[in-house]
Amino acid sequence: MNLRALCEIASNCIQCPLYESRMNVVFGEGRCDADIMLIGEAPGKTEDETGKPFVGMSGKLLSEIISDAGLDRSDIYITSIVKCRPENNRKPRKLEYSKCISLYLRKQIDLINPDIIGLLGNSAIYALIGKKNIKQIHGETYEVNGRKYIALFHPAAALYSRALLPLLKEDMIILKNAI
Ligand code: URA
Repeated sequence: MNLRALCEIASNCIQCPLYESRMNVVFGEGRCDADIMLIGEAPGKTEDETGKPFVGMSGKLLSEIISDAGLDRSDIYITSIVKCRPENNRKPRKLEYSKCISLYLRKQIDLINPDIIGLLGNSAIYALIGKKNIKQIHGETYEVNGRKYIALFHPAAALYSRALLPLLKEDMIILKNAI
């Protein structure tokens, strides 16, 4: 199975209740042999409308942080722990993200086989490496089941609290230097 075939399956997914309100499945975007993968929480309104990850306000900030770190967004594979937008941007529930991770995200990670995975925000961090409290662990790298992860603030958090922006920028440079 390649990424395209997996994306095709995901585009018809009805495995959790999130399918009922979605407009588009936001599978992910970027190089299928990327060295860096970034994983966020869930598609928002603009992502649901366009089918592309991180294209709304936090996506624009993410693009800026990526290029400030000297990276090219198109070289990175970007996705989220759930591929469908939860109504009113609520946090994805455990049953939703567990299913989506085992059906799609684990396979995406294995197919892309990145050197490092940046986890954007508490939801992705908890879902993938079981850690809480991003304020204490951001910028740290963790090896879990043979994969290297780094905990990063979610760009939406940096939009809300501008003091986090320099920290997110520094952590993106740590990520870049880890490959
Ligand atoms: N936030 C996310 O976590 N993922 C997206 O795709 C967009 C916003």
